Amino acid sequence: MYNSKVLEIFKNPKNVGIVKGANGVGKVESSFCGDIIKIYIKVSEDGIIEEAKFKAFGCPASIAAASVAAELIIGKTLEEAVMQTSAKIVEVLGGLPEEKAYCPALAEEAIKAALEDYNKKKEKEQK
Ligand code: FES
Repeated sequence: MYNSKVLEIFKNPKNVGIVKGANGVGKVESSFCGDIIKIYIKVSEDGIIEEAKFKAFGCPASIAAASVAAELIIGKTLEEAVMQTSAKIVEVLGGLPEEKAYCPALAEEAIKAALEDYNKKKEKEQK
């Protein structure tokens, strides 16, 4: 069902865990399958994502997608990170079965939720 790259990343995902001192956290839960992805980001003063990690409870595709999602946003600006879509995640994974299109979309939502959380915290700080 899955290609060898997806299986490899699923078995050895990168950036698993919690970022100490994270200033953005995005947690999304699928209303469709109940799977959960949480992404933690640490954004530097000059707006670069220095660290990103994830925790997930889900199918192999969601774990692999979350790993790639974290990988894709490390070293990026917030503007660049928001452009890391599920299509990009699928591209890096070398494709996913059609019925699993939902899983990378959940990872994309988690990135957006983490960025939103960061922006909200930043706004509060500036008030
Ligand atoms: Fe739920 Fe993959 S089936 S995220």
